[in-house]
Amino acid sequence: MNKRPDSMQRITTPELAKAFIDEQVAEIKAQVGDKKVLLALSGGVDSSVVAALLIKAIGKNVVCVHVNHGLLRKGEPEQVIEVFRNQMNANLIYVDAVDRFLDKLAGVAEPEQKRKIIGAEFIRVFEEEARKLEGIEFLAQGTIYPDIIESEKGVKAHHNVGGLPEDLRFELVEPVKFLYKDEVRVVGKELGLPDKMVYRQPFPGPGLGVRCLGAITRDRLECVREADAILRDEFDKNGLAGKVWQYFVSIPDFKATGVENGERTYQYPVIIRAVNTVDAMTATIEEIPYPILKHITSRILAEVKGVNRVVYDLTPKPNGTIEWE
Ligand code: XMP
Repeated sequence: MNKRPDSMQRITTPELAKAFIDEQVAEIKAQVGDKKVLLALSGGVDSSVVAALLIKAIGKNVVCVHVNHGLLRKGEPEQVIEVFRNQMNANLIYVDAVDRFLDKLAGVAEPEQKRKIIGAEFIRVFEEEARKLEGIEFLAQGTIYPDIIESEKGVKAHHNVGGLPEDLRFELVEPVKFLYKDEVRVVGKELGLPDKMVYRQPFPGPGLGVRCLGAITRDRLECVREADAILRDEFDKNGLAGKVWQYFVSIPDFKATGVENGERTYQYPVIIRAVNTVDAMTATIEEIPYPILKHITSRILAEVKGVNRVVYDLTPKPNGTIEWE
């Protein structure tokens, strides 16, 4: 049941993607008929592809819920609204849960505790939205084949919206569950999703929450979001975005001494990390050309208020994990 059929051809071309889309649209229609489907839409490639497939199959009968937990990157919630509500005319519920998450996280420094709070609060918000709706019988999920393999091996728990209470257990719709990541991207491109969404670098579920090191504060969260946006912009402009597997910025929870216009400053450092990997189990450091690093540094120092120092992390995995927390 949960095994990819041996006969299934790897989806590598627009034609194969189109055939897959046609087949899935027909299957979704057959499975759900004129009933309603709920989907947690993070804006990541998997949930976005599932959303686009469902919109194609059943239009407004898929209700997409986008929860903004305040830990997304700059421009992400806006992009979800633009692509799905404005361009695809989707039935999209946008939930601004920023204060809820940040209040729950206030003063919590331990990384695993932060992850637990973010995960549990996400389910709570999603559950509340689900209860407001009527006539939902299905839950769509962006499960992909590596998720199935890894949960069978016990490597990681199934990360999708498990944990909903008994009375909210819906029948599942998982149209990309036999696809590998590269195939999901080919399908996403064929569905007309923007490249920014389709070729997005991996981004952890707890988001900037594990990049704002220690107890999360709003001022440092803004610094890390702005610095990360500059890093991504420069990687895009310099052709590094497609070449480097994951690149981001973290911010520690201590300040450093600096000097500006002859005056002493006492502000936050930010740490740039750029790694290459095949499976995220080990990682090597990308050798970013020095002039680009210098330019990124000067932009961050000039544009991000509250930051007076930029460092580049040279630690491979092992010994360091990819994320600092
Ligand atoms: P680490 O830091 O363990 O990261 O070397 C390996 C990959 O996993 C991502 N990551 C996460 N993804 N929830 C996620 O969905 C998490 O809690 C989480 N922690 C790390 C990380 O960004 C990297 O791609």
